[in-house]
Amino acid sequence: MIPDSFIQEMLYRIDLVDLIDGYVPLKKTGANFAACCPFHSEKSPSFTVSPSKQFYHCFGCGAHGNAIGFLMEYSGLGFVDAIKELAGRAGMQVPDDHGAAGQHVEKSQALGEIMARAARFYYEQLKGSARAVSYLKERGVSGEIARRFGLGYAPEGWQNLAAAFDDYSSSELQLAGLVINNERGRLYDRFRERVMFPIVSQKGEVIAFGGRVLGQGEPKYLNSPETPLFEKGREVFGLPQARAAIRAQDVVIVVEGYLDVVALAQHGIGNAVATLGTATTTMQVQKLLRQAGRIVFCFDGDAAGRKAAWRALENSLEVLTEQKSIAFVFLPEGEDPDSLVRKRGGEALQRLIAQATPLSDFLLRELAGHCDLNSAEGRARLVADAKPLLGRLQSSLLRLQLVKRLAENSGFSQAEVERLCDLQSLARPAPARAPRQAPSLLRPLLRLLLQKPQLAGGLPLDLLPGNSTEARAVRLLCETIGDGGVRMLAYPALIEKLRGSEYEGILRAAAAELMQQPFAEEGIDAEFEGAVKRLLEGEHKRVFAVLQEKVQQLGVSGLSSEEKQQYLTALGARGRPGSVG
Ligand code: UTP
Ligand code: MN
Repeated sequence: MIPDSFIQEMLYRIDLVDLIDGYVPLKKTGANFAACCPFHSEKSPSFTVSPSKQFYHCFGCGAHGNAIGFLMEYSGLGFVDAIKELAGRAGMQVPDDHGAAGQHVEKSQALGEIMARAARFYYEQLKGSARAVSYLKERGVSGEIARRFGLGYAPEGWQNLAAAFDDYSSSELQLAGLVINNERGRLYDRFRERVMFPIVSQKGEVIAFGGRVLGQGEPKYLNSPETPLFEKGREVFGLPQARAAIRAQDVVIVVEGYLDVVALAQHGIGNAVATLGTATTTMQVQKLLRQAGRIVFCFDGDAAGRKAAWRALENSLEVLTEQKSIAFVFLPEGEDPDSLVRKRGGEALQRLIAQATPLSDFLLRELAGHCDLNSAEGRARLVADAKPLLGRLQSSLLRLQLVKRLAENSGFSQAEVERLCDLQSLARPAPARAPRQAPSLLRPLLRLLLQKPQLAGGLPLDLLPGNSTEARAVRLLCETIGDGGVRMLAYPALIEKLRGSEYEGILRAAAAELMQQPFAEEGIDAEFEGAVKRLLEGEHKRVFAVLQEKVQQLGVSGLSSEEKQQYLTALGARGRPGSVG
């Protein structure tokens, strides 16, 4: 764990404008800086960076965050790596706590070096193996593309890696998954007589290998086991090589095989990556949606391909936002992307990709395929089957679209579909939760506190109306400012603290509004006083309403003497004749 205090200090030292300008050249526009958004494609700049508040916000796609968020989104770094990178810029050393986490980092570094060395070894071996080279040639892979993917060869023989490492018996080599220790204590190379496909992390480090037999043989592909460096479900093959093309086109193509990625690159389609022999995971989808506005899954046209596509769909629903799109290409039976581009060329595949089936069409088509829409039972089943999927869908616009089409197909009304799928609360969260009087008062308060956190001390928290998310956000904000000290006054630190919490959205919205319309420095205190006064008035009204209710039920004698006093004062304040009897 990296301590909060370290992160706060680091965020305080980093200048976000400097940082972002190094990746996306910024132009000054009034108090802020702007550029075309690096996270979605657009022609006029809606990506805005606030130098005073040190956060970025895109008014087009909603991307929002601090320096850590920017690096994670832009470079696809993990949280810890983003912090390391920023600490380096800030001239700070990430504290190396001597707990398990610290050891883990050291271990990963050692493993990283081992993997890099092994990759170099295999790469060199490929040059020396006429057999392996001719296999790749036969499969249409040029020397240039082989270099680009760092392809290698693990020769025949049991202990080739002994030539690459001083200590072949080191347990690290086993931990790295390169050497296997059998029951009789004999050590041997995991990969033998295989073409090696290095799997490279977003940071550009080799973290695993996939090895293909030359020609026929079982298993066709042998993969690295999971190690401290490598978690299958988080990685894809070919991402570093594809990054530039993905950015340029804002599309990433996902295929199933290592060789598919290589063959597509060979045919000029550079924006493809592959999952690693397992179903596409939510983490993979999320990772890819950070890099591109659109994912096109390109699977085989057979039953297995359809199944793989369906799993990918299921695992995409909860991370697919309004600004992003996902579509599917099903290849003709018996073809995979590699065989298709080799037979018909890259353009043929590009055409299929341009006409990919949208996620919603695929979803409805698959569901409808399992139900007999000519029977009432079948139509009911359609809606029942859709229910769990709709519930997981993040994008409310897409959900509404699907509801409409489900209604058409099932013969239920739209409202009935929503009710059957328990979607009413999802579709209209606002009236259900937020009390009527709250938002108009609380939103400006939030903005005031964000602009001038010092005001928090002057806010009587017990006056906050209701228990809405807004009210809780204001309370939390005040508490955070209260016990955070100077650094916590900074918005980037606040973002960090609230990452993933229910308050994130509200604060983002408030910060973004502030970015467009800050309060004038000279007027801000008066504005705040006005807001507090309105809070007080609201409180008086509420107290009065409670007392009045009691009076109606029990008469004035039902009030305690203190309450009686309050009630009379309130009546007086409201300018009504005091007809209490
Ligand atoms: P495929 O069987 O479709 O192979 O497996 P491929 O990629 O088209 O390879 P070629 O063209 O026959 O050489 C797709 C992916 O599934 C994983 C690998 O990641 C492979 O790229 N796989 C497949 C394995 O991990 N192990 C296997 O034995 C087979
Ligand atoms: Mn293939």
